[in-house]
Amino acid sequence: MLLLAFESSCDETSAAVIRNGMVLASVVSSQTKLHAEYGGVVPELAVREHIRNLQPVTNAALAAAGVSAGEIDAVAATQGPGLPAALMVGLKAAQAFAFARRKPFIGIHHHGAHLYSPWISGQPPRAAFGEFQPNVSLIVSGGHTMLVHVESELKHRVLGGTIDDAAGECFDKTGKLMGLAYPAGPIIDRLAEQGNATRYDFPRPLINESNDDFSFSGLKTSVRYFLRDHPALLDDPATMRDLCASIQSAIVDVLVTKTIRAAKRLGVRCVTASGGVTCNRTLRRELLARCQKHGFQLRLADPSLCTDNAAMIGVLADRRLAQAEFANDYDGEIQPGWALV
Ligand code: KG4
Ligand code: ZN
Repeated sequence: MLLLAFESSCDETSAAVIRNGMVLASVVSSQTKLHAEYGGVVPELAVREHIRNLQPVTNAALAAAGVSAGEIDAVAATQGPGLPAALMVGLKAAQAFAFARRKPFIGIHHHGAHLYSPWISGQPPRAAFGEFQPNVSLIVSGGHTMLVHVESELKHRVLGGTIDDAAGECFDKTGKLMGLAYPAGPIIDRLAEQGNATRYDFPRPLINESNDDFSFSGLKTSVRYFLRDHPALLDDPATMRDLCASIQSAIVDVLVTKTIRAAKRLGVRCVTASGGVTCNRTLRRELLARCQKHGFQLRLADPSLCTDNAAMIGVLADRRLAQAEFANDYDGEIQPGWALV
């Protein structure tokens, strides 16, 4: 089966072609530079870019896969959650494509797709669902932070999530306080590399709580007050690196500690992680060290699949269609607030 998938929930326009679980092509047009000027995603600009880019991105994906539109057997798109008008662009285009060609269409939950993205690996990338193991999965992005118990393939239960800011948001907002460009996560990652993570002691909210929830706004506030009282620290590059390393260490410490604790409590043997913040090298390193210590297998989404992309949407859609899930939802509506349960 040849499947065409779309993703347009936030500021990436993406199309991918999947054949029986294998990613033949995945093209992503990122709008990060466009929104950087405003310090965050501007929905109206995002929508305009999606409309402009969807067709060229789709043509590029089909060309890279070496297939024509007429050969597509099924279509999928992100149905939610996300920015309403942004979701609308990809979903309605996908439904129209499927309807016009009388092909099955399936709407996909964006976080459901992140959840299974760590199982996509290799070159060319393909879904290794044959290797699936029950796991605890950490989804960390600019908009979401959650822990999920994936009991069996396509069956999961959310354990907890952030009660305020997401982890990526914490990277971006504390970065902004330090005068870094948006999105600050990758910049902090880079600066922290040469920094001393023990130089400044920032709070690790909820780290000792037995629940699976997260909270990052207190950490952001603590950084704000600290910088208000020590503004000169930002003028020294070496101190900046230490600040970045210390803030990053607080975020990573909370994420890793709570993920490992949940995995131990639930008795799984596998931990997975996905979403934009999973690009963070210290998070990847710390998760690996702690998983090795406790004998857990670790599956991290490939960095190319951590940030938003249609390949993960297509792989999940392909899997669900292979399991004979009903699909011809040509007029299903966007679900901007669709919660993963
Ligand atoms: O998954 P994603 O593309 O978008 C959302 O769905 O939100 O994630 C973007 C987020 C941003 O907050 C960005 O700062 C963060 O992921 N991010 C990182 C790194 N790369 C991206 N955070 C820390 N370290 C990184 N290397
Ligand atoms: Zn995402």
